[in-house]
Amino acid sequence: MNKDFRKSTVYQIYPKSFYDTNKDGLGDLRGVIEKLDYIKELGVDYIWLTPFFVSPQNDNGYDVEDYYNIDPRYGTMADVEELIDEAGKRGMGLMFDMVFNHVSTNHEWFKKAMQGDSYYKDFFYFRKGKPDGSAPTNWVSKFGGSAWEYVEKFDEYYLHLFDVTQADLNWENENVRREVQNIVKFWMNKGVKGFRFDVINLISKAGFEDDTDGDGRKFYTDGPKIHQYLKELNSMSFGKDPQIVTVGEMSSTTMENCYQYAGRDTGELSMVFNFHHLKVDFMGNEKWVLVPADFQKLKDIIFDWQVKMGEHNAWNAVFWCNHDQPRVVSRFGDEGKNWKESAKMLATIVHCLRGTPYVYQGEEIGMTNTDFTDIHQFRDVESLNNYQILLDKGMSASDALRIIQVHSRDNGRTPMQWDNTKYAGFTSEDSEVKPWIGVNSNHTKINAEDQLKDKDSIFHYYRKLIAMRKYLDVIAYGDIEPLDEKNSSVFAYRRIYEGHEMIVVANFYGKDFEWKHTPSLEGFEKLLGNYDETEITAEGSMILKPYEAVVYYR
Ligand code: GLC
Ligand code: CA
Repeated sequence: MNKDFRKSTVYQIYPKSFYDTNKDGLGDLRGVIEKLDYIKELGVDYIWLTPFFVSPQNDNGYDVEDYYNIDPRYGTMADVEELIDEAGKRGMGLMFDMVFNHVSTNHEWFKKAMQGDSYYKDFFYFRKGKPDGSAPTNWVSKFGGSAWEYVEKFDEYYLHLFDVTQADLNWENENVRREVQNIVKFWMNKGVKGFRFDVINLISKAGFEDDTDGDGRKFYTDGPKIHQYLKELNSMSFGKDPQIVTVGEMSSTTMENCYQYAGRDTGELSMVFNFHHLKVDFMGNEKWVLVPADFQKLKDIIFDWQVKMGEHNAWNAVFWCNHDQPRVVSRFGDEGKNWKESAKMLATIVHCLRGTPYVYQGEEIGMTNTDFTDIHQFRDVESLNNYQILLDKGMSASDALRIIQVHSRDNGRTPMQWDNTKYAGFTSEDSEVKPWIGVNSNHTKINAEDQLKDKDSIFHYYRKLIAMRKYLDVIAYGDIEPLDEKNSSVFAYRRIYEGHEMIVVANFYGKDFEWKHTPSLEGFEKLLGNYDETEITAEGSMILKPYEAVVYYR
C-alpha cells in the first residue's frame, strides 16, 4: 500500500450490490474477499466499504443499530477479520464508514431513551414543540418531510435530519463523543487503515430556530463547534496512528471550512468530499427537477476548489461517483455510441487532478444508470419519498418517474456487472432469490469479464491512470492551472511540479471540436489518450474528436 495518500487511489464498495456468495440476493463480505484480486488488479491502495454493521437497513446500513457487530446478512466478524487480513496481504488497506451524525432508532441508546432513561435521552435531541404543538422548527429532512418526529409519551419531538428511523446524536454531550471515539479505536485495533465519516459536518447544531429562507441547513451545516469536535476525535482516536487516512463527507459545506477540515497541519482530517460540482444539474439545492448540466459551472466549481484548496495546503477527495450519485457516464457522458470514449474522458479529468481519486464499483467498467421503467423497481427511501412528494404536488406519475430515473441514488446501486449471465454474475443463475434490486439489462455488453480481456477497455484505462499517479510526482504533488476556462467545449488544465509539467485536455461533448487555444506542446510527449492519434493542424490548433481526452507530459 502506498502510505502517501496523495499518491493513492481509493475503491469504493457498496457491499449489498457487489457480489453475493450465498445466493440470498444480497451482496456480502465473503463476496468482497472473493473479488480482492480483481480490485488489486486495478492498482488501488484503499478499499472503502459502506456500512455493514447491524442495521434494520432502512437506509441500507446508514442506520446503524450496533457499531460493534456485523449484520448477519453481510457476514460475520470472522469474515471482516479475514477481509482486513487478505486485503493487507495484497497491499490494500480497508477504510470503514463511520456514521456518527445519527444512529438507528433500533440502537440500544435510542431504545433506552424511549424508555425514559435520562442518561440516554441526552444522547439525542428531544425538544418540546411550539406553543401550538407543531414541531420545534420548520427544518426539512434530507429525505423529505419534517426533520422532527413527535413522541406522544414525552410530548416531545426528536430530531432526524435524515429518515425518521435515523435519530441525530447530541454531540454536545461528552458521553456521546466518548462512545464515538471508542468505536473508532475498536476498529483501529482490528487493523482498519482508514475511515470515512458520514455527513460529519452536520454534527454541531447552532440552535433550534425556524429557517425563514431555507430548509434549516444553515443551522447545522459546518456548525459552531465542528472544528473543536473533529480535533478532539482526531486526538483521542485515529490521530494516535499517523498512518490512518480519513475522509469527511461534507454536506453543503463552504471552502473556508474545508481549509480547516482537510488542512495539512490542522489536526482534523486527511481530506474532504464536497458535492458542489455534482449539483450542476440541480436548481439551486433542489434535486428533484430536470435541468441540463451546466458545463461552465462544473468547471468553475472544480477549478475554484482545486486552486484554492491548493493555496491553503488542504486536500480534496476527487470523484464523480458514489452510492448516492447517478452514474457519471449517463450524467455527463454518453451511454450510446461514444460510451467508451466518454467514460475514459471523464476518468481522465478526475484522475489527473490534485487530490485523492475515488473510484466507485462499476465506474471502472463504465456502468450506466438503471433501466427501470416502473417506480416499484426502485428501492431507495429518498427516491420513494420524493416520488410521493412530487405526486402530492400534482405532478403526473410519468413526469415524476422521469425525475426519479435521472436523479435516483439507485442508479449507483444496481448489482455490479461481472459477466453476461442472467444476474450479471452478481448472484448465481440458479439462485432461488432474485437480486435485491434489478440488474441492468446492459450487463450483456457492459461487464468486468469482457473488459479484463480487452486491453483497450475502460477498466484498463483506469488501471493506467491509477498507476500514473504513483510514478508521476506532478500528478500527486503539482500545482494546477486551469486552461481556457471559458471554453464551452473543452475541459483543460496544466499541472506543474519541480520543473515537470502535465497538460490535460478533454472534449466534454460528442462533436468534433477545433481547439484554437492549444498551449505550446513543445517538448511534451503524449502519455495517454482515448484515441490513437490526436490531430494537430499546421497552425497548432487541436482537432478534438468526440469526447477525446489526451494527457501530455514534459
Ligand atoms: C450520507 C450517505 C448516504 C446516507 C446519508 C445518511 O450522505 O452517503 O448514503 O443516506 O449520509 O446517513
Ligand atoms: Ca449474500
